[in-house]
Amino acid sequence: MAFTDEIKRRRTFGIISHPDAGKTTLTEKLLLFGGAISEAGAVKNNKVKKGATSDFMEIERQRGISVATSVLAFNYKDRKINILDTPGHKDFAEDTFRTLTAVDSVIVVIDVAKGVEPQTEKLVEVCRMRKIPIIVFINKLDREGKDAFDLLDEVEQKLGLTTTPLSFPIGMGYDFQGIYNIWAKKINLFAGDKKQKVTTGVEFTDINVPELDEMIGNKAAEKLREELEMVEGVYPPFDQDEYLNGDLQPVFFGSALNNFGVKELLDCFIEIAPTPQPKKAEERLVDSKEQNMTGFVFKIHANMDPKHRDRLAFVKIVSGTFQRNVPYLHVRNGKKMKFSSPNAFFAEKKEIVDESYPGDIVGLHDTGNFKIGDTLTEGEIINFKGIPSFSPEHFRYVNNADPLKAKQLYKGLDQLMDEGVAQLFTLELNGRKVIGTVGALQYEVIQYRLEHEYGAKCTYENLPMHKVCWVEPTDNKEEFAEFKRVKQRYLAKDKQGQLVFLADSAFTIQMTQDKYPSVKLHFTSEYK
Ligand code: G4P
Repeated sequence: MAFTDEIKRRRTFGIISHPDAGKTTLTEKLLLFGGAISEAGAVKNNKVKKGATSDFMEIERQRGISVATSVLAFNYKDRKINILDTPGHKDFAEDTFRTLTAVDSVIVVIDVAKGVEPQTEKLVEVCRMRKIPIIVFINKLDREGKDAFDLLDEVEQKLGLTTTPLSFPIGMGYDFQGIYNIWAKKINLFAGDKKQKVTTGVEFTDINVPELDEMIGNKAAEKLREELEMVEGVYPPFDQDEYLNGDLQPVFFGSALNNFGVKELLDCFIEIAPTPQPKKAEERLVDSKEQNMTGFVFKIHANMDPKHRDRLAFVKIVSGTFQRNVPYLHVRNGKKMKFSSPNAFFAEKKEIVDESYPGDIVGLHDTGNFKIGDTLTEGEIINFKGIPSFSPEHFRYVNNADPLKAKQLYKGLDQLMDEGVAQLFTLELNGRKVIGTVGALQYEVIQYRLEHEYGAKCTYENLPMHKVCWVEPTDNKEEFAEFKRVKQRYLAKDKQGQLVFLADSAFTIQMTQDKYPSVKLHFTSEYK
């Protein structure tokens, strides 16, 4: 197949949701359609069970599973579909943010009863900022939930989206009969009491025909006609360009568990979702159709076997063809490297591949050369943008608990930070190290992994801080010097050597900003 055809047939996306909305179930159903798995239950539930924060077995189990489900690829109707896993648990939000730099679009799953939940809001905000095309799937229609129009309102208001329904439910919960597929102008009805089976879709280009009343009953038919009229009157018509620009978000309804509305979603998705997109680098925009290979690391996963410290670096191919045993330039350290066993992912398996194309993810075995954000090219100096660090929400001093193992501790911390487990800051005043995380769970993960993989022990000391701000140096030398002198105790360097300010409250940030207006404080490391 020609190179450009390979690009055209690829769709790389992520499914995001608040935990329990049905992401895992939907993923599994999509894989079933692709024939990638043959039975339900094959995709392990990739989430940290509630109340398991101190259960190390659970953390380990979680790590194992997340390697297996990091990338799930399958073929469907000649398309190659790559689903990138995004943890829903809030403690792993940063992981999800980074994965979102490697997707070309997302599907957001919302629970019909719970509506828009906090984690969905956070993640969609990031997608909106980056103008990532979004499709919304409203799940669990077999249960009683909110009214469809109320939900669409909520999605628009809380998520700041402009929706257009491409399917519409016929009833809900106990009365749920099926779905009218606005996109394909078809009706799909549930069969049987248990609502587990689906009758084959019936084409209904004209919903005013009496056959509709026969199929779903007078009352339901009338209601559906009214609702569809309202949909047409209130919501903008679907426009693919607007969707691709992130200005319009199509909505589907269904029940992932009952496999209802999922095929409709997938069939529409492969038609409208974006092919591998160009990506901005500091130097220039790189188009997927360029012949020269470029790619970047968006995730690093440690080996499960503590005796081997090798890791798997996940590289998203942006342009060109990635080939086995061909030397590529590791831009940050200026070295050429070749890879004898790059992994590709297929369903829940990984296998060695000779060639990968834009949109694909390859897993490279790494012994500590990579960190998140690193770029590989055929020689050109390219640094892809868009893997910023966000301010952590928890801060603790880290202390060495075994003086004989200081080297191991620093090496371990260094590598874990490269993997993106947490962020490390070094205080300017006394060189003390502070670990910042999004959730408390990471501290346990770090302690456990330092001990088991590096033989080092650490203890923590709480540091009651609110946020870090990345400090943008100013030309106003006097004001900058004054700021540095007064705030000396609260200044630190991040791992890249960028200056940060540790603020104990939102009020402090405001006061500091008012007092030193020329010193800009940012909540993300990539502010330029
Ligand atoms: P997540 O990955 O977003 O966290 O959600 P997951 O798919 O694990 O789904 C969360 C729960 O919701 C699961 O039940 C799942 O079976 C259920 N679910 C998913 N889709 C639907 C749906 O369309 N209708 C209904 N009624 N339920 C749905 P659980 O009891 O927590 O887990 P399990 O023991 O069934 O695996």
